[in-house]
Amino acid sequence: MPTKSRQSSGRFPALGVLCSGQGTNLQAILDAARTGRLRARVAVVISDRADAPALARAKRAGVPASFVDPKAYAGREAYDRALIERLERAGVRVVCLAGFMRMLSPRFIRHFRGRVLNIHPALLPAFPGAQAIHDALAWGAKVTGVTVHLADEQIDHGPIILQEAVPIAPGETQATLLAKLHRVEHRVYPQAIQTLLDGRAAVRGRRVGIRRAPR
Ligand code: GRF
Repeated sequence: MPTKSRQSSGRFPALGVLCSGQGTNLQAILDAARTGRLRARVAVVISDRADAPALARAKRAGVPASFVDPKAYAGREAYDRALIERLERAGVRVVCLAGFMRMLSPRFIRHFRGRVLNIHPALLPAFPGAQAIHDALAWGAKVTGVTVHLADEQIDHGPIILQEAVPIAPGETQATLLAKLHRVEHRVYPQAIQTLLDGRAAVRGRRVGIRRAPR
């Protein structure tokens, strides 16, 4: 009989990942969990879009994945209640937003306060919003980057866990910059998740002190 992969092992804390699109960050989290770089397991993946390739990635990894249709709910609060219920049922400790294109309700944020991470393809507070890569290029910025932060009631706003700069080269296009940012995202998101799970992130207001991982 095949041995249980680390990813499917129940020993590690459960993650819930919310996605709307390609799910390359989800893939990075799944891969990191599979190889043991991230001591966590993805317990559930939820998408607000039926056609999100992220759902197929989750299924390929043997993770329960579902499309939860926003149109089936009366509004944001009702939709988020359905998300909370699914995440709780899966025993989720930390919620990872990975290209989830919906704003979460204050109720959702309250429920998982300090346990919702988001990844953004810019150095916040520069270039918040859904067009961050386009906006950085259009502004003529020479440097952009990646931010992983705790989600709060405002978009792309909560306390910052980790940031990494990415230079914008002359002649950079949206496609080349996206590829550079993705390489960084896929490396740092699992790292930030582990930091939070280890209790090594001390949040005081906007400031987050990070303790080093023990060797
Ligand atoms: C990422 O660039 C992330 O920073 C942003 O949405 C994008 C999602 O990409 N929040 P993917 O679906 O993980 O490929």
